[in-house]
Amino acid sequence: MLLMKKSGLMICMRMALATGICFVAASLVMGEQPSPPTSGMALLSIPSLPNAHRLHAKVISGGQPDGDAGFQALHDLGVRTVISVDGAKPELALAEKYGLRYVHLPHGYDGISGQRSLELAKAVHDLPGPIYIHCHHGKHRSPAAAVVACIGAGYLDHQVGLEVLRLAGTSPDYQGLYKVVASTGRCDELDAVVVDYREAVEVPPLATAMVQIERTFDNLRLIEAAGWQSPAKHKDLTPQHEALLLREHYTELMRTEEVLARTSAFRELLKSSIANVRLLEEQLRRQPKNATEDDLSKRRSESLAVIHHDCRHCHRAHRD
Ligand code: HEC
Repeated sequence: MLLMKKSGLMICMRMALATGICFVAASLVMGEQPSPPTSGMALLSIPSLPNAHRLHAKVISGGQPDGDAGFQALHDLGVRTVISVDGAKPELALAEKYGLRYVHLPHGYDGISGQRSLELAKAVHDLPGPIYIHCHHGKHRSPAAAVVACIGAGYLDHQVGLEVLRLAGTSPDYQGLYKVVASTGRCDELDAVVVDYREAVEVPPLATAMVQIERTFDNLRLIEAAGWQSPAKHKDLTPQHEALLLREHYTELMRTEEVLARTSAFRELLKSSIANVRLLEEQLRRQPKNATEDDLSKRRSESLAVIHHDCRHCHRAHRD
């Protein structure tokens, strides 16, 4: 093992250890076989499939398909399998409506475990394609998962992995994602990997709450873009209600065992996020005399920016 300098081999070994598979022929993997073909990545530019990029003839990475239009677009592209790598519950009814199979293989922003990397590679190799791999925005987790899967399955060259992340816009802040891509290698033992392909798996309460928090926060951004009114396309969203929901999601989270077991510094961050959402709620409720519409909008936007800052601050300290 000491002789194996190539990181690609190391990941195969890491994966092998994680799954109990013996990679006897691991030395063949990187050195003595011809490189798999590299593929030029292409942006698909389909509005209902955010940041969708084709990495390989069989594999597309992108964001959450946007409702009916998104799943219709997948169908039109000929996609047959959809792999979700985030914590949100997959949209099974829509997938079924368009004849698509869902497979849920979630991972965090801090990296992809050896076991999960193998499962992704095996899924991409074995399941009917084209395959659409998505997370929420299609910028961070899905490109990393798609690259790891493609390299593992031998569809992408090891060297292009990091380039693909940069092209997809994966933030360098997610060091764990960059690391896993940098150290991943082709695995020739996929036949021995057993994957439990499930259309939806249970995700821990913290990650589930975060999915809701992100959705509500995104709604507040839409409301902000509409001048702090219900957006024309989403009349169901009202400013005060969305701010209230955001606070409720945070408050609910405070009560979970998972958060109670965390450090006090973590809980303090949650508390200050709640206080900042309260401030926005107040600014949405009260209309101080003498304040112009512009002033009001500006203050609300400042509060939303502080709330956003809280997300990033906590993620940097406790997640990524
Ligand atoms: C007090 C800390 C904290 C704050 C504040 C916070 N987060 Fe998180 N967030 C986390 C942690 C920790 C995780 C990782 C959870 C896991 O994977 O177990 C996470 C995960 C996530 C995820 C990934 C969920 C998934 O699919 O697995 C999203 C999306 C997210 N946060 C969005 C947000 C947004 C948007 C905000 C602000 C409006 C925010 N978070 C505020 C701590 C925080």
